Amino acid sequence: MAGRAVAREPKEIVARGYDAIALRYAEWAGQIDSPVMEWVRDLDARLDVDADVLELGCGRGVPTTRELARRHRVTGVDISAVQIELARHHVPEASFVNADATELDIAPASLDAVVALFVFGHVPIEEQSGLIARIGLWLRDGGFFLGTFGAGDAGEHIDADWLGAPMFFASLDSEAYSPLLRDAGLEPVRDEVVAHHEPGHGDVSFRWTLARAAA
Ligand SMILES: C[S@@+](CC[C@H](N)C(=O)[O-])C[C@H]1O[C@@H](n2cnc3c(N)ncnc32)[C@H](O)[C@@H]1O
Repeated sequence: MAGRAVAREPKEIVARGYDAIALRYAEWAGQIDSPVMEWVRDLDARLDVDADVLELGCGRGVPTTRELARRHRVTGVDISAVQIELARHHVPEASFVNADATELDIAPASLDAVVALFVFGHVPIEEQSGLIARIGLWLRDGGFFLGTFGAGDAGEHIDADWLGAPMFFASLDSEAYSPLLRDAGLEPVRDEVVAHHEPGHGDVSFRWTLARAAA
């Protein structure tokens, strides 16, 4: 019997995709001159030592988890089992969980910071506002959220060959994120659109946000 094409769930595409391209992604991302470290160090400077930090979509743990784990208790979460395996190898001093960031069960007001870099771009549109709202609940008063969002129009698409595997991408309209952050009790302290050059893809812009949970 001939096989029937079955559309795979976005989450499955993302998890399997990063499982397949983890090493290639690491090599590719390593060539990008992005502002990650400047924003991560800005966050770090605002946190007391031994802060409780949750990093969503931590990938292989380099450079963000490794940098934050120097001074803080960091838990990294990633939907890709291979990325989590690499992260455990690169940052043995942090804790890691292989899970979907939208399905975490975390106590309210239990975290000093939540970090989500280049992750929302893989979360289905209908789930993004709920995740932002939960981040607001997880943070203690005065805690910080550091994240990147799409800087363009709303949309979802699947790239059939992104660094060698199918990949799912999604974004709300860039302007939609500010009200969602405010509704979640997160007040931006820095909010900038920053472009970086991606090998093979050209100049790509992201909206960088560092926000504080209202005290
Ligand atoms: C573009 S990579 C960024 C990795 C890392 N944050 C960095 O800046 O290098 C996106 C990562 O998010 C993970 N991811 C995507 N959707 C996720 C979800 N729903 N829950 C947890 N991790 C997710 C992917 O598996 C991948 O490792």
